[in-house]
Amino acid sequence: MSDHASQGKVEILAVAGLPEFRPGDDLAAAIAQAAPWLQDGDVLVVTSKIVSKVEGRLVTVPADPEARDAERRRLVLAEAVRILARKNRTLITENKIGLVQAAAGIDASNVAGDELALLPENPDASAAALKAGLAAKLGVTVAVIITDTMGRTWRIGQTDMAIGSAGFPVLHRYAGQIDRQGNELVVTEVAVADEIAGAADLVKGKTGGMPVAVVRGLSRVDDGSTAADLVRPAEEDLFRLGTDEAITQGRQEAVLLRRSVRFYSDEPVPEGAIRRAVSVALTAPAPHHTRPVRFVHVRERRQALLDAMRAKWRSDLAADGWSEERIDKRVRRGDLLYGAKEIVVPFLVREGAHTYSDAYRTEAERTMFTIAGGAAVQGLLVALAAEGIGSCWVSSTIFCADVVREVLGLPEQWEPLGAVAIGYPADSPLSPRPPRDYGDGLVEL
Ligand SMILES: Cc1cc2nc3c(=O)[nH]c(=O)nc-3n(C[C@H](O)[C@H](O)[C@H](O)COP(=O)(O)O)c2cc1C
Repeated sequence: MSDHASQGKVEILAVAGLPEFRPGDDLAAAIAQAAPWLQDGDVLVVTSKIVSKVEGRLVTVPADPEARDAERRRLVLAEAVRILARKNRTLITENKIGLVQAAAGIDASNVAGDELALLPENPDASAAALKAGLAAKLGVTVAVIITDTMGRTWRIGQTDMAIGSAGFPVLHRYAGQIDRQGNELVVTEVAVADEIAGAADLVKGKTGGMPVAVVRGLSRVDDGSTAADLVRPAEEDLFRLGTDEAITQGRQEAVLLRRSVRFYSDEPVPEGAIRRAVSVALTAPAPHHTRPVRFVHVRERRQALLDAMRAKWRSDLAADGWSEERIDKRVRRGDLLYGAKEIVVPFLVREGAHTYSDAYRTEAERTMFTIAGGAAVQGLLVALAAEGIGSCWVSSTIFCADVVREVLGLPEQWEPLGAVAIGYPADSPLSPRPPRDYGDGLVEL
């Protein structure tokens, strides 16, 4: 049985005599000089701080404590792609490469008093470069692990973990293996690179100026994995939300999950999901405490509705003088409704609208109800997205309202607000997109 434990003894050796590093220094050359004794199969464990230094990831900050603090905060937010939690002055962030850490890994230890160190931009690439550098200088094949010190949720104290690596299988999967009692190890997957990072820290320490150690005695075959493989994908993350901050973000995330999905998988949409989404959507704001929106889940009459809509569209285009061929091409855009797993047609019923003696206010009242319909439809789309269900709001029914009412047997006052095609996405599951830069979409006067 394959085990991640070493067969023989494992040694952890300090690499003494390294200089104080500055931007532009040749890290591989310095390590080759300090550790000419490196051997094939050694794992070189390097504190990310010195990688940050040689890669010029140092930022000079003001001496004034308040200004320094403001600059630090600015840097943390610039490095972060997401804030997961906030407690007093501590921010837990995710950075561009998916590392979740306090303050985006920005740190003032072991750097000059007026400097802060940002994490290396691509620690896996840094590790690969160092590995190649040592092969060139010493003719040895070593693995390289770049570490950072991190806290662990629910556990007091920090340990070192692998944030970059090259030449080392970062995970050891036990899935399918049987222990000595005959139990199958279904989920055990050991983060060996993190274990090595922690072990090397026993030699490196934090204050003794010992940023590099070598772990010797592990016989592990490179599988091409890197530290990036240790970052848990968002869709497998059970704890993506948690604190007040994260909950706020989670709420926004539902909005950001929505996108127009035009191709759907065969997976059925649960009836309950549509009911829940409609219930959510009906909470949308509406004028004068009215409830002007109705959602029609079109089932039995779906084929008849789509065929009648298509016929009307064709006749409208023919009346515009379009050729049959051009009409065929254009109406194919309506195929997305045929391909949808479910269709919901939103309607506006202007019950409770006020009447006015002049056209201007009558028109304003109409607009008010129309936009309330839009708010409810967006609510439906977002509520569906929150359940991982895709949708596309299409306009077609607005252009053939009479046909829609006739096929569905609805009264004249019901005004269709398009149609919502619904289904699980055929391609990738919904994932939140970043918010748009507000640019000229936000005008401050
Ligand atoms: C009122 C309205 C009508 C729309 N009509 C159509 C349509 O007929 N066909 C279509 O494919 N998309 C339609 N869309 C979807 C837009 O094309 C889509 O929202 C836009 O391209 C932005 O993409 P996103 O929804 O993924 O953010 C419509 C959207 C709205 C709000």
